[in-house]
Amino acid sequence: MSAPTLDRPAAPDERALQEHFDATIAADKRIEPRDWMPEGYRTGLIRQIAQHAHSEIIGMQPEGDWLLAAPSLRRKAILLAKVQDEAGHGMYLYSAAETLGADRADLTDKLIERKQKYSSIFNYPTLTFADVGVIGWLVDGAAICNQVPLCRSSYGPYARAMIRVCKEESFHQRQGFELLMTMMRGTEAQRAMVQDAVDRWWWPSLMMFGPPDVDSPNSAQSMAWGVKRHGNDELRQRFVDMTVPQAAVLGVTLPDPELALDPATGRYRFGPIDWSELKAVIAGNGPCNDERIARRRAARDGNAWVTEAATVYAAKRTQEHAS
Ligand code: 3HC
Repeated sequence: MSAPTLDRPAAPDERALQEHFDATIAADKRIEPRDWMPEGYRTGLIRQIAQHAHSEIIGMQPEGDWLLAAPSLRRKAILLAKVQDEAGHGMYLYSAAETLGADRADLTDKLIERKQKYSSIFNYPTLTFADVGVIGWLVDGAAICNQVPLCRSSYGPYARAMIRVCKEESFHQRQGFELLMTMMRGTEAQRAMVQDAVDRWWWPSLMMFGPPDVDSPNSAQSMAWGVKRHGNDELRQRFVDMTVPQAAVLGVTLPDPELALDPATGRYRFGPIDWSELKAVIAGNGPCNDERIARRRAARDGNAWVTEAATVYAAKRTQEHAS
């Protein structure tokens, strides 16, 4: 059933359904899978939730590269737990997308065919182990700023998936900060390694929040429907305000000479973001885009036998129960 449009006035029952949907959103209540919803609400949610899920799964690659080279058993165990968490976040989110009629195998194919996106941040290389700490501190810190409001998203399954994701993100961010603090209390070379990683990841972390609101084709409708609770600029600002004092505790310098506290607002002013870089990375021209997609394709194709076996087994069990 598609939403009523100007040239196709809604049938009375559809108008009532639209009014009920609008009243539910206005009352800040949840839309659930069995509720009527405008087609644009459904497709917009699949778009965002699928990209979110793809980001979690692709996001396993940059840190996963360091699992065999972690400097201690403790660091390896922590990193293993984090990477496994990201896989679980992806599964929650694909499950949330499936409540809207999407199919995770189809979404994965769209990702691999570059018909759906994932977060630009995962297209940068992890050159040293300090990158693992900086990803936890900055990237997961940015994810927390972006995902906590999504716990109040108007779509029930998405909001509920975010609650557990955000609890685990807090661990991700803290382990990254603790890793960096350990290195900053280490040798001069370790301190230089941390500063180098901060220099490389700071601006791409700000780009995670998307283009400026004025250039965001999705934000207005997404916020009107209560999917997104704040604009890209507000969430980016919250992240900067949260992170600058943490950088001071760590003893690192954020690579922005214009960064300064505005006493009038109590918020940090920061320098211009290079939007051409975000556009290039989203278009597939980042440092690691091809590698990330190639590995995702290899994982899908190399493990197809597992999916097939599980599908056949499940069908057989269903048939046995039915007979
Ligand atoms: N990387 C890739 N694509 C991006 C992007 C980025 N950093 N920022 C924006 N885009 C894309 C959008 O998807 C949109 O393209 P589309 O219409 O083809 O989907 C276009 O650029 C315009 O951006 P908009 O601001 O209009 O798009 P949105 O309203 O969807 O806002 C968003 C973008 C803020 C990323 C929003 O989609 C969102 O909040 N998504 C859910 C959270 C999420 O995906 N977080 C990032 C990664 S998850 C993560 O970090 C996990 C942690 O464990 C590491």
